[in-house]
Amino acid sequence: MQNNQSREGFGSRIGAILALAGSAVGLGNIWKFPYEAGTNGGAAFLFIYIGFIILIGLPVMLAEFTIGRRTQSNPFGAFKKLAPRTGWKNFGFLSIIAAILILSFYSTVAGWTLEYVIEAFKNSFHSKTTVELTEHYNSFISNPIKPVIYQIIFMCLTGVIILAGVKKGIEKYTKLMMPLLFFLIIAMCIRSVTLDGAKEGLNFLFAPDFSKITGKTILSALGQAFFSLSVGMGVVLTYASYIGKKENLVTISLQVILADTLIAILAGVAIFPAVFAFDISPDSGPGLVFLTLPNVFQHMPGGYFWGITFFILLSVAALTSSISLLEVIVAYLTEEKGMKRKKATLLTTIGITATGVLCTLSYGPLKDFTLGGNTTFEMFDFISSKILLPLGGILISIFVGWKMLKKYVYNELSNDGKYKLPMFDTFMFIIRFIAPLCILAIFINELT
Ligand code: TRP
Repeated sequence: MQNNQSREGFGSRIGAILALAGSAVGLGNIWKFPYEAGTNGGAAFLFIYIGFIILIGLPVMLAEFTIGRRTQSNPFGAFKKLAPRTGWKNFGFLSIIAAILILSFYSTVAGWTLEYVIEAFKNSFHSKTTVELTEHYNSFISNPIKPVIYQIIFMCLTGVIILAGVKKGIEKYTKLMMPLLFFLIIAMCIRSVTLDGAKEGLNFLFAPDFSKITGKTILSALGQAFFSLSVGMGVVLTYASYIGKKENLVTISLQVILADTLIAILAGVAIFPAVFAFDISPDSGPGLVFLTLPNVFQHMPGGYFWGITFFILLSVAALTSSISLLEVIVAYLTEEKGMKRKKATLLTTIGITATGVLCTLSYGPLKDFTLGGNTTFEMFDFISSKILLPLGGILISIFVGWKMLKKYVYNELSNDGKYKLPMFDTFMFIIRFIAPLCILAIFINELT
């Protein structure tokens, strides 16, 4: 274990749950979910999304847990241990490419969030109309310097936490943040649903019109399910490698999924009534949250403080997600390449800040730098969420369903028979057939 720099584990069960929930809950729930739902027809998207979470997200998460805890390794090492001398270890490359792409555009939006913390402190949103808020947002994101600076600050924060190590770094920051964020969003929901015209927003989110569904909606919902749960590229696998052998993986995954889905739905409830009440277009895209919520805060008693607290918490939620992405790459460099943690963190942070700047500038000087009509930001998002994560999901399902001995899978999930697994056969059936075929069908449908 010496040159492995002896792996740390999470201090407690609650620590492991919090770290996984910290990875899952982030901009994906509060920024991405509402705008994806908004551009993909609202309620129909929500229902399909929830269907995918249960049918595919949960089984793939369990499969990642199984591989990660059994091997106690990063994605490369894990497949090397379980399937030596095969191509499976190349899953590690998918994992690293996905981490780089996601963290690049993720840090752009996290940077915007930091800027909104400062603007909230300065009380800049006070008595601004929707039009003025939109102008403010557009002029900020297209600025060639400011958003880049915020992005660099965010990446530095991520790097510093990763340097502090898994246990101290990841566990600590999530403990306080999650419950606080939860209560804050509830308060925002209460304000939002009591706005004039809230009903239209709630209808948009909860009354589905399935006739509007297209292949694109379905692929977006699938991608969003993977993205929000952080599954499909080895983050869960890596975290699971730090979970103690005594913990019940099924319980942990159910708790994480419940928390993640609940926060996404609550974010929708906080946002859509306001979208309609303040005459914002639900398909505004990535700016939706930033245009809508400042309106809500203005109409809350003590809105100044709500606004500040919310954007701080959202930044912290983004951080507990971004560290999970950076950790995958750092774990690879330290455990597979023997690099020192410090050097690995430094190099990775600098590298991803560089690719990230391309995403940030997609809204400014590089907005005409496109491929097939997509900016760098949109391309990184598309390739990672809609291709790599579902593809990773197929590979993980096939590996656990067909390559691993069923007995090992059972033993890992049941802690050697200690816990009952009444749905184990259903799980195996999904992981062998339903999940891979379903994802494949969605790909084929969208590409043809
Ligand atoms: N799930 C996080 C969010 O919703 C983002 C994230 C963190 C992620 N780690 C990931 C997404 C791994 C995909 C894969 O904000």
